[in-house]
Amino acid sequence: MSHIVKTHKRLKGVYWISSEEGISKLATLNLSPGKKVYGERLIRINDKEFRIWDPYKSKLAAAILRNVPNIPIHPGNRILYLGAASGTTVSHISDIIGESGCIYCVESSPRPLRELLSNVCAFRKRVFPIFADARLPERYRVLLEKVDMIYCDVAQPEQAKILSDNAKIHLRHGGSAMLAIKARSINSTRKLSEIFKEEVEKLKANNFYINTVVSLRPYDKANAMVVSEYKG
Ligand SMILES: C[S@@+](CC[C@H](N)C(=O)[O-])C[C@H]1O[C@@H](n2cnc3c(N)ncnc32)[C@H](O)[C@@H]1O
Repeated sequence: MSHIVKTHKRLKGVYWISSEEGISKLATLNLSPGKKVYGERLIRINDKEFRIWDPYKSKLAAAILRNVPNIPIHPGNRILYLGAASGTTVSHISDIIGESGCIYCVESSPRPLRELLSNVCAFRKRVFPIFADARLPERYRVLLEKVDMIYCDVAQPEQAKILSDNAKIHLRHGGSAMLAIKARSINSTRKLSEIFKEEVEKLKANNFYINTVVSLRPYDKANAMVVSEYKG
């Protein structure tokens, strides 16, 4: 089957791949050709290999498909990723930032971290694993330089606080942050909109200027994505 590739209009390093039936899917250019990370489809077009990016498995892909206008991830960026898990979204960010950028991946659970090491870090030079608790950002202060952007997707009740505490130490002034609000890790019964609003208020109180808040439905029922700039 033949495919057509087009660059995403607003996001450098992100592509649309269309099939003969006219179905378009999000993709990134594979920085480690031949290697899959989470069973994603690989498609070769004109000597380049693309990885289809699944919005049901990555909240960042869901946010892009929900048309978030100002995703602050660019080639060459230095990124701190909190809650890296086994590297599904990390790997696509790594494709986007390329080898001139780097990504520090904080994860507190040994099992996904092992998969991150063997499936992602082993094949990508600039993806650095950090086995640590994101609630204690002081502990990895010495391991990284200030970053351009923090992406926070931790399964913890205090998500806005975790992002803010990390920003104080690790984010450069004027840097950006994305927070995937996992509402059901915060409260299992309260209205989603109330939980989202509260987390956003906590960010505002900690020197974040909010650009966008978007629900990730239909890809992800109980989560929202916040895009912000850090003025701290
Ligand atoms: C929803 S998963 C992240 C999925 C991942 N961001 C992706 O899109 O591929 C949340 C992750 O947060 C991790 N986590 C939970 N509490 C944490 C903490 N205090 N510090 C670091 N990671 C934590 C969990 O182990 C889990 O891997």
